[in-house]
Amino acid sequence: MKVAVLYGGVSAEREVSLSTGKQIIAALEQKGHEVTGIDFHPSRLNELLDLEADIVFLGLHGRFGEDGRLQGVLDMLELPYVGSNALASGIAMDKAKSKMFFKEQNIRIAREVVLERKLYKEQQAEISFGFPAVVKPNREGSTIGLTIAHSQSELLKGISEAFKHDDTVMVEEFIAGTEVTVAVMGEKGNVQALPVVEIVPKNKYYDYESKYAEGGSIHYVPARVSEEVTELLQNQAVLAHEALGCEVYSRVDFIVPHDGSAPVILEVNTLPGMTPTSLFPDAAREIGLDYPEMIEKLINLSLK
Ligand code: DAL
Ligand code: MG
Repeated sequence: MKVAVLYGGVSAEREVSLSTGKQIIAALEQKGHEVTGIDFHPSRLNELLDLEADIVFLGLHGRFGEDGRLQGVLDMLELPYVGSNALASGIAMDKAKSKMFFKEQNIRIAREVVLERKLYKEQQAEISFGFPAVVKPNREGSTIGLTIAHSQSELLKGISEAFKHDDTVMVEEFIAGTEVTVAVMGEKGNVQALPVVEIVPKNKYYDYESKYAEGGSIHYVPARVSEEVTELLQNQAVLAHEALGCEVYSRVDFIVPHDGSAPVILEVNTLPGMTPTSLFPDAAREIGLDYPEMIEKLINLSLK
């Protein structure tokens, strides 16, 4: 098969995407496909069109790759691609909008206040859940621009840091717990949740370094949580994936609170990391799919 792999791109997660792209290209070559990798920039759309690929594999993360805008362009060009459509991608990239869909499904979310650049001075008064508080750009990935604030001054610093990355910032109550994630895969109406992955970061939090440095975190698959919690997480991951209208695959992140209360959903990633330290490939391995098989499966699901 002729596959175009778009990677790199222009988002803050470019470095992650370079790594994701490299792995995907190597896997497809190993499987004997005719692969062309393109470090993506809009000026290279003609090159992509000239390839006449059977499918485009998006190894991109973040803005202009994962957020639906490129998916819309590919739809217009009638180029099939792996993963979710433009609308689902756009909603999933918007943490605040996603939460409206999660609420609708009765999936527990952390309390939040959404701040808009032009109104945030007044909106800040609504933050009433104390410290620590989590401050994040509304549409960003890999914990870029994220602060865990322990005081008012850290909160204010965190808010201005997050505004460097987005016009909308979300401040959330901090939930003390274990970070887990559920990979979801399958065709519409027949979506499967993979074994839950538990993350134990070397640093205090699962930050950028813990995510991508070799040995930055330990992944337990399956997660060391009860059968009941496992089932709940898997059901909710599928619900969240479907509620946003995601397709083919996604990875749904949660916190399992230390106090034994219900899991809290964080977000759905429509183009989850596929780097050597990433979580989705670990979950796939647990069900017997090695990395190249997993990549091929995602292509096959997309072409159905
Ligand atoms: N945003 C990164 C790539 C992830 O969720 O894996
Ligand atoms: Mg993310």
